Amino acid sequence: MNIDIIKGDITDVKVDAIVNAANNSLMGGGGLDGAIHRAAGPELAAYCRTLKGCKTGDAKISPGFNLKADFVIHTVGPVWYNGANNEEGLLTSAYRRSLEVAVENGIKTIAFPSISTGAYRFPFEKATLIARTVILNFLQNNPSIEKVIIVAFDEKDFKRMKKIYSLDEERN
Ligand code: APR
Repeated sequence: MNIDIIKGDITDVKVDAIVNAANNSLMGGGGLDGAIHRAAGPELAAYCRTLKGCKTGDAKISPGFNLKADFVIHTVGPVWYNGANNEEGLLTSAYRRSLEVAVENGIKTIAFPSISTGAYRFPFEKATLIARTVILNFLQNNPSIEKVIIVAFDEKDFKRMKKIYSLDEERN
């Protein structure tokens, strides 16, 4: 399975593209978004201004500027309210659109954070199950993506992610 789970800071990962858990403005924010903008430098915000925002569940691409990654794919995950506002569908779309944008731009290696599970409060296990389903299905139909790295920011998330992704290996 060409999916690796690692623990660390996504801004340090050397892949063709890292995925940013952005907000609709694409003008930066806290958490992961803030870390990516700080590492990329001010050119990122200047470039993102030209993208004119991003709908929840959609994804847009920018250069990586000072990041190790060549590109940043900015996606906007849903805020979790109670699960009755199509949150699962929108998170599915955020992962899928990020992968579609990667393929459209000839990207072969991509790193994902755990979209929406921080400030947007999406339940972690539910979000990880969605990510795993979308990524595995997409990889089966899109061999041009050679490697997907899922980045957990701390040990707790890393252990939970490993468990959820390893379920697949036993079954396959
Ligand atoms: N590298 C990898 N993962 C990280 C990093 C990092 N440097 N920083 C945070 N994370 C993890 C968090 O631990 C969480 O699991 O990324 C996940 C997403 O957390 P958030 O950054 O809070 O993103 P999200 O929940 O999608 O909320 C997005 O927060 O930063 C603002 O502008 C952003 O409004 C948007 C909202």
